[in-house]
Amino acid sequence: MPIRLGVNVDHVATLRQARRSTYPDPVTAAAMAELAGAHQITIHLREDRRHIQDRDLRILRETVQTQLNLEMAATQDMVKVAYEHKPDMVTLVPERREEVTTEGGLDVSSQREPLRKLIKNLKDGDLPVSLFIDPDLDQVRAAHKCDAHQVELHTGRYCEARNERERQAELARLVDSAKAAAKLGMRVAAGHGLNYDNVADVAAIPEIEELNIGHSIVARAVLVGFDRAVREMLELIQRSRR
Ligand code: PXP
Repeated sequence: MPIRLGVNVDHVATLRQARRSTYPDPVTAAAMAELAGAHQITIHLREDRRHIQDRDLRILRETVQTQLNLEMAATQDMVKVAYEHKPDMVTLVPERREEVTTEGGLDVSSQREPLRKLIKNLKDGDLPVSLFIDPDLDQVRAAHKCDAHQVELHTGRYCEARNERERQAELARLVDSAKAAAKLGMRVAAGHGLNYDNVADVAAIPEIEELNIGHSIVARAVLVGFDRAVREMLELIQRSRR
């Protein structure tokens, strides 16, 4: 099974919002990610609009050439947004205002009926739905019962494992959940906290078809681009003295 990379450009917007400026533009970053071979662009339009803005979603819907994956809270307001902009995939995630990032997966088991209705509503608008869940067999089964097209397995606990024993245990949970979801006929994605050191073992899980990665790529881009950015500024200020 080939594996696809979804590049999450939220934190390009975080940098822009830190100054409420117009740059760096996540729309430009998305186009560059696609030119570099990304298979998908992922954004999370949060209720508090702390990074991605409605304007970004609107423009990205027009400019993304691959697939646009919209992460959003499972609310009627966000369903309206999805209907308006028609992303290629809607990923439902839990959302709490006070969290720094999405801390855990959706608890599908405890809200099966409302989620099933919301998924049906989205499906009626031709919007396929992925559920962001912890790698837990009960959650996988509950996602299937809700008629989700896909599950995205939360890799946060694997990424935060403090020792090799914990890491292997979390990896085993990802493997088992991926197998179970694929067996039930769902597509399987994974993401959250993946970086250049920890991605390989998750990418090797054959049932996983897609990884969504953001923070580590944006963080690396800042550093690999830093030398050039400083040189360009130096050249500009020195030229004005010549
Ligand atoms: N997948 C989902 C469902 C997410 O909510 C996030 C974070 O927005 C990611 C993937 C990407 O996580 P990270 O930025 O840690 O790579």
